[in-house]
Amino acid sequence: MAANPSPQRPMNQPSPAPPARILVVDDEEHIRRVLELMLGHQGYAVTTAGNGGEALEKFAAEVFDLVILDLRMPDLDGITVLGRLREAEPDQVVVMVTAYASVETALSAMKQGAFDYIGKPFKEEEILIVVQKALEHGRMLADNRRLRSEVQSRHDFGSIIGHSPAMQRVFNVLRKVADTKATVLITGESGTGKELVARAIHYNSRRKDRPFVAVNCAAIPATLIESELFGAAKGSYTGADRTRLGLFEEASGSSLFLDEIGELPLEVQAKLLRALQEGEIKRVGETAPRRVDLRIIAATNKDLAAEAAAGRFREDLYYRLNVIGVHLPPLRSRPEDIPLLAAHFLQKAAATHEIKPKKLSRAACEALSQAPLKGNVRELENLLEQALLMSDGPVIEPADLFALAGGGGQDVRVVVPPQEDDLKKVLKLVSQKTEEQIIRRVLGEENGNRTRAALRLGISRRALITKIQELGLE
Ligand SMILES: Nc1ncnc2c1ncn2[C@@H]1O[C@H](COP(=O)(O)OP(=O)(O)OP(=O)(O)O)[C@@H](O)[C@H]1O
Ligand SMILES: [Mg+2]
Repeated sequence: MAANPSPQRPMNQPSPAPPARILVVDDEEHIRRVLELMLGHQGYAVTTAGNGGEALEKFAAEVFDLVILDLRMPDLDGITVLGRLREAEPDQVVVMVTAYASVETALSAMKQGAFDYIGKPFKEEEILIVVQKALEHGRMLADNRRLRSEVQSRHDFGSIIGHSPAMQRVFNVLRKVADTKATVLITGESGTGKELVARAIHYNSRRKDRPFVAVNCAAIPATLIESELFGAAKGSYTGADRTRLGLFEEASGSSLFLDEIGELPLEVQAKLLRALQEGEIKRVGETAPRRVDLRIIAATNKDLAAEAAAGRFREDLYYRLNVIGVHLPPLRSRPEDIPLLAAHFLQKAAATHEIKPKKLSRAACEALSQAPLKGNVRELENLLEQALLMSDGPVIEPADLFALAGGGGQDVRVVVPPQEDDLKKVLKLVSQKTEEQIIRRVLGEENGNRTRAALRLGISRRALITKIQELGLE
């Protein structure tokens, strides 16, 4: 299976949760002061705004766990500000404060989505209890959101983001073919989302309750591919001390994802073609065919038509696979998808690392839209993850994005969380990451050949395989 450079937890132990951030909006200076002191004393990080306009400005630039909002203010009143906040962030938790706690105004605020309200003058304990409850509610909403997106990402095209016309065309095709048995060939440059699409197809088919079986054809030594795919009878080759089930049989009744299909050796291509044509396979060392019933999804970043023309890929197999062709356009041809993708990855990375989400400044968003992003969506995801961890303020600026990207990709890049200063932990992280990146690079350069990679790395093949498993590089 293709190895995703999935975000790794920076540390084994989670760092203590950062303080909750509260925005206090009130036109009366002394109320702002009192709330700031009271809440600051409890360890909350408090920001204040003296009117609605200022509140909206601060809200646009920073993520707050809670907004405490005065109902009566000159110019923009509390209800209007509430409406705008919730429009921008539908899950934003807001508590209203009012000196004229009429039932009607309170009700109208609750209807607009305020979590609770407090009457002025208020007692300290009263405020603190409401704040605690409101923050608890916010955490629950965030958990729900995370669960929802996890469930979705497994079962829904919702995990594939893109509103560009090019991606809309892709969704149209996916909707039509997902729940069929049609063979799909997914093409596109590295990092454009081929594996993501393959999974989405499987999980939107009636086979979704069966496991999605994936194999990276480039990662298996040529001599072993046949038995990997079709299985092998006991004694069929030296070391075959028992019968091996191949991936075709394993995936029977489900979907088989053949990643990097362009790397398949020609002899194996012939056998694959037969399997697709006949719906039958033969285990290595057996003569009787066995029926299999599976849906094939294949992917490649090569131009298979050109490969076929050059004699490196069987043309008949190409046509067999390309019953439905799905081409994922490179990110540079659909810059309008970048802001959405960026917001999605910032949220995802914040959840993975259990830290507060940050926002992307307009300039940073522009800069991303103009960046070459040769590694496509994967590169965008990595840039944002690093910027989230490394930037100092609550807003990510262009400098945060490209400071780390640096020259040529030769250097080993390690992200150390800014709040981490335990030297042993940092060194361990650096050495783990360095190891991982070098193994990744050498494996890539050796086309996944573990024997050659181990030789170059100066470790045994067995040690390399253990590391590959530990690091999840399969
Ligand atoms: N449209 C998208 N919406 C959300 N996430 C995406 C999208 N496209 C790609 N990604 C994410 O980008 C990363 C790379 O995607 P994926 O592994 O599917 O690419 P790929 O085309 O298979 O790349 P490669 O050819 O290098 O194997 C993954 O983390 C994936 O979830
Ligand atoms: Mg892939």
